[in-house]
Amino acid sequence: MGESLRLVDVLTRTGAWLRTRGIESPRLEAELLLCHVLKMERLQLYLAHDRPMTDVELKALRPLVARRGGREPMAWILGTQGFHAIDLDIVPGVLVPRPDTETLVDAALAWIDADADPVYVADVGCGSGAVGLAVATAHPGVRVFATDISKRALTCTRANVVALDLGKRVAVLEGDLLSPIPSNRPVDWVLSNPPYIPSRTIDTLQPEVSKHEPRLALDGGRDGLACYKRLIPLAAKLVRQGVIVEVGHDQAAAVVDLFKRAGLTDIRTWDDLGGIARVVGGRTG
Ligand SMILES: C[S@@+](CC[C@H](N)C(=O)[O-])C[C@H]1O[C@@H](n2cnc3c(N)ncnc32)[C@H](O)[C@@H]1O
Repeated sequence: MGESLRLVDVLTRTGAWLRTRGIESPRLEAELLLCHVLKMERLQLYLAHDRPMTDVELKALRPLVARRGGREPMAWILGTQGFHAIDLDIVPGVLVPRPDTETLVDAALAWIDADADPVYVADVGCGSGAVGLAVATAHPGVRVFATDISKRALTCTRANVVALDLGKRVAVLEGDLLSPIPSNRPVDWVLSNPPYIPSRTIDTLQPEVSKHEPRLALDGGRDGLACYKRLIPLAAKLVRQGVIVEVGHDQAAAVVDLFKRAGLTDIRTWDDLGGIARVVGGRTG
């Protein structure tokens, strides 16, 4: 890329190159990368499309485009991802929160008494903090125990707690499933989007997932259900009110069965936008 390149030329070249790398929306992503480097909104980009790009700007852009061409998730490169009503800081090594997981947040907000204060929620496998922090943002009575075994995830959640000013209502705890929550603390609801992809399936997924996202966040063992088999009986014993989990597209029936076996009642599922049951909830007693 030469010094005299205009913004529109860079946009066109970047988009064309990203297309050769198999990116589904190359033009849009080229725009987002340029906006990021130039600290502009997309509209400003178009208004300025004739202006030449400086060497400094091109130098800043190149490595980001190369990373995206290597199929790193866009949220890792931009450092942020919108989720439910919040914006989350996202860093490499931490699962990018998905729109599907907003169904879990909506289910939790539908079931948690809107007037309860305090109401104690565990977000098991918090990743970036997406689920717990979205629920806490929407419901002022919610107090969250966010747990994970990934240090990167815990650091990312802690940064998001500070950015969202939720420090007084969220405890971020390192450890397996529910184990880091002090045994004398009440828990009303367990929410979780655990790893649920069958081990052998991971390598067949798109490169952003199979080559970059952490196995620890994805791998649900041979049948994808390993985490649910451990978590649901533990959660059913601990909680005062109920358990709500996200599941893979073909796992709802198996997870409903685990809820029944754990003695949970009033079991129901919620569909994602595609009409597939992706969240399972059940209550105690
Ligand atoms: C599918 S990701 C979900 C992340 C986040 N809740 C979200 O929805 O974007 C699963 C998370 O569970 C964490 N995890 C895996 N095994 C765990 C365990 N045994 N105990 C606690 N967290 C675990 C992973 O590190 C990862 O952050």
